[in-house]
Amino acid sequence: MLSEEQRRQIITALSEGKAIPQELQSLLFHDPAKEFELVYRNKISEEALLANRDGVLPAALQVDRVYAPDGEVELESWKNLIVFGDNLSFLKSVYRNQHPLIKDRIKGRVKLIYIDPPFATGERYDANKGQRAYSARRVGSDFIEFLRRRLVLAREILAEDGVMVVRNAYNYGHYVKIILDEIFSIDRFINEIIINRKRKSMGSLKKYEVAYEYLYVYSRSDRYFFENQLAKKPLSRIKWTSFLSQEERNPRERRVLGLTFLPPAGQHFSLNQAKTEQLLKEHYLRVKHKPSGAIFYYSQSGNDDAFYKTISTKGVNKFKYQDITTQTEVFGVREIREIPRFKTAPVEEFKIEYLTRDEEKITNDWRDIPSYTDTSGYPTENSEQLLARVIRSFTKEGDLIMDFFAGSGTTAVVAEKLNRQWIAVDMGKLAYFTMQKRLLQIYDSKDAQNRNKKFRRKARSFLTCRALSPPPDNRLKLDPQVYRQFVSTVFNITLQPFRWNGIEFDGKLDDSPALIFDDTKSAGQSIDIPYLRDLSKKLQSNSPAAIYIIVPELYLEMDSDSFHSDGITFYFFKIPDQILTQLGAFPSQNGQPNQNRKKNHDFEEAIGFHLNLPPQVKSKIESEGTARRLFIKSFKSRGRHAQKKQVWCGLGALSAVFIDRDYNGRWFTFDLTFFAEELFPFLKTAGKNREEINKRFAELNDSGLQIELGDIPSGKTVGIIYTDIHGNFFREQFTL
Ligand SMILES: C[S@@+](CC[C@H](N)C(=O)[O-])C[C@H]1O[C@@H](n2cnc3c(N)ncnc32)[C@H](O)[C@@H]1O
Repeated sequence: MLSEEQRRQIITALSEGKAIPQELQSLLFHDPAKEFELVYRNKISEEALLANRDGVLPAALQVDRVYAPDGEVELESWKNLIVFGDNLSFLKSVYRNQHPLIKDRIKGRVKLIYIDPPFATGERYDANKGQRAYSARRVGSDFIEFLRRRLVLAREILAEDGVMVVRNAYNYGHYVKIILDEIFSIDRFINEIIINRKRKSMGSLKKYEVAYEYLYVYSRSDRYFFENQLAKKPLSRIKWTSFLSQEERNPRERRVLGLTFLPPAGQHFSLNQAKTEQLLKEHYLRVKHKPSGAIFYYSQSGNDDAFYKTISTKGVNKFKYQDITTQTEVFGVREIREIPRFKTAPVEEFKIEYLTRDEEKITNDWRDIPSYTDTSGYPTENSEQLLARVIRSFTKEGDLIMDFFAGSGTTAVVAEKLNRQWIAVDMGKLAYFTMQKRLLQIYDSKDAQNRNKKFRRKARSFLTCRALSPPPDNRLKLDPQVYRQFVSTVFNITLQPFRWNGIEFDGKLDDSPALIFDDTKSAGQSIDIPYLRDLSKKLQSNSPAAIYIIVPELYLEMDSDSFHSDGITFYFFKIPDQILTQLGAFPSQNGQPNQNRKKNHDFEEAIGFHLNLPPQVKSKIESEGTARRLFIKSFKSRGRHAQKKQVWCGLGALSAVFIDRDYNGRWFTFDLTFFAEELFPFLKTAGKNREEINKRFAELNDSGLQIELGDIPSGKTVGIIYTDIHGNFFREQFTL
C-alpha cells in the first residue's frame, strides 16, 4: 500500500517529467528477475537503505571552518566543501536534500565521484610518524555491504550524465565489480583501468608479487562526458616515416625546402601544402639525402651553419632529434639548393620524412604514471597524475567532483588545480587535518599540468563542516559505570573519587582533578559560563589550577576547549553523541576500548569518526598597544604514538596553529596559518639530525614559543586552533 505522501511524490515526479524516486519504483514495479546477483549475508534491499531502515539517519551539518582568501563567503553559496564524519550519513543527507547548506546544491549535480576506499586487506594504515590514519580491517561480506550501501547512495546523487570511478585491488576487486554491475547495470560499465600498485613484497615465496590495482568506471547514462587523454610515447616507438597514402589526388606535388617532390604513381601526399609548411616549421617534417644520410630541417635564418648547435637533443623536443648522432650531417635551411654540395644533386636522391606525434591516445593500461605518492605523510596517498587523468577524462572545468573516502585530499587538491568544484569527505581526524593543510599550502605545491613547475595560486574558498548523527534515542539506557570506564580509558584518567571544597571529583588526569559530567544526574543542567564561575568560586583556588571536565558534547555550551575563571583553567573533553549511542550498543566492551585493538577499531568505525584527544595548551596573548603576540608556554599532545619518542609529545607534536583575528563565535575563519615548517625552521636545517632536533625542541619546550599576530584592535575576539601531528585539535579564544 502506498501512503498519501508516497502517492503525492509519484504524481509530482510524473507531472514534472522526472524519474520516480528509486525507493518508490520498487513499490510500484516488480523487480525484473536479475540475470545474476551477488548473494551474501547482511545484504539489505536498496529500498530499505534509502528509507533509512538500516538505522543510519541523514547527518546534520555544522559549519566548522571557513577559508575565504578574497574576503567573506556566503555560507549558502559555497563552492568547495570538506566534510568530517561518516560518509554514509553524509550521503544520506545529500540524498534527502533538505539541509539548507546543501539543498539543491549537490544531489543530481555531481559529475564525477572518485573513491579509493580501504581495500579490506585486514591491516591498519599509519602515517609517516607512526600516527594512526585509518584501518582496512573490515573484511568479507561486511566490507562488500559497507561499500555497496555507499555506492547505492552515490548513484542516487550523481548527475544524470555523471561518472563513478572506484579504485580497488585484487583482494576484493572482483566482488566490487559485481556489486557495481548490480547498482549501475552492466550496460553502464565503461572501463576497467589498470594502474600501478606500490611495490611491496607479498611476504610469500609461493605466489607472484602483485603489480597493479584497478579503477572501475561506470556512468549513470550514456550521456557522460569523455575526453580521450594523450600520453607521451616511448622514444623507441617514435619513427620518421613517409606521409604517403593510397590513390592519386591533385595537386600531386609538394614544395619542401625549395625542392619539388612528386609521390609515386597511385599514391598522394596525405598533408596538403599549407599543413606541410606548418609541420616543416615545427620540425615534424624534414628532408633526407639518401646517398649521404644528410638531414635538412627548416631554419628561419636560411642557410644556418650553426644550426646543429641550436637544436637540443635533450628536454621536451628530444624526440624530434633522437636519431641524430655525432656522425650525422645536419643542416638548417630554407632552400636545400643554397648549399653548394647539394646544388645539383638529383631530386630523386631526396626523400621527405614525417615524424609521428610524440603523444598517443592512452588505453586502459595506465601503468605509465605512478598511482601512489608520498607528499603528505598520509598512507596510500594517490598520485596527482592519476587524479588529473581521471578528472580530465570525465569532467570539464567548473564541474562538481566528489570523493567520500578522501584521505589526504588528493581528489580535492587536483580538482582545485584543474578549476573544478569539489567535495571531500572523511571520518578520520588526521585525514581532516591533512586535507586542509594541503589546500592551505597548495601555492607551493607542484602544478597539475607541468610537474616541473610550482602551482603558484592560492586555493579558492572552501568550507569545512562536521556531519553529525542526529541525537540518539537509546542513550539513557547507557550504564553509567560503562560510561565512566570508557572515558577514563580513552582520556587516561585515574579513577579515584575525592572531594575538594565540597565538590566531588572522579579522579585525576596529569595530577589535576577530573570531573566526569553525568548528564543523567544533572537534571537538565549543562555546562555554561555561570556553572563554571560558580564552580571556581566554590573551589577558591589560590594557585593557578587545571581542572578537566569530561562532558557529552550536547551538554557543553562553549565552543572553545577551555575556560579560565578565578585562577582556574577548565579543559573540556567532549564526547560526541554518536559515541554514547554506540557505547549503549557495545555493552560487551566493558568500557575499555583500548584493551582490544580490534574492538576499538570496530568502535571507531561504528561511530563514524575518530575521537578528538585535545592537546593540552597553556598560552596567552601579549600586547604592545594593538600589536599582539601569541605566547605558547607549553604544548602537550595526548596522541598515542607507536614510537614512544619524547619529541612527539611536546612542541615537536605541534603541526599547525590557525588564527582567526576576528572570531564571530559561530565558525572559524582561516586568517593566519602557521605550519610546523614555518614555526620550527630548524626542522629544515637540521635535516635528519634527530639529536639536534630533539635538543632544539627541548629548548623551546623550556622557553615557550612566540607567534606574531600583527595589529588587532581591542574588543576583538581571537580564535585559535592548535592541531597536533595526529590531527587532534584544541580550540581557544581570547577577547582583547
Ligand atoms: C585509502 S584511504 C584514501 C586515500 C586517498 N585516496 C588519498 O589520496 O589520500 C581511505 C580513506 O577512507 C576513509 N574512510 C573509511 N571509512 C570511512 C567512512 N565510513 N566515512 C568516511 N571516510 C571513511 C579513511 O579514513 C581513509 O582516509
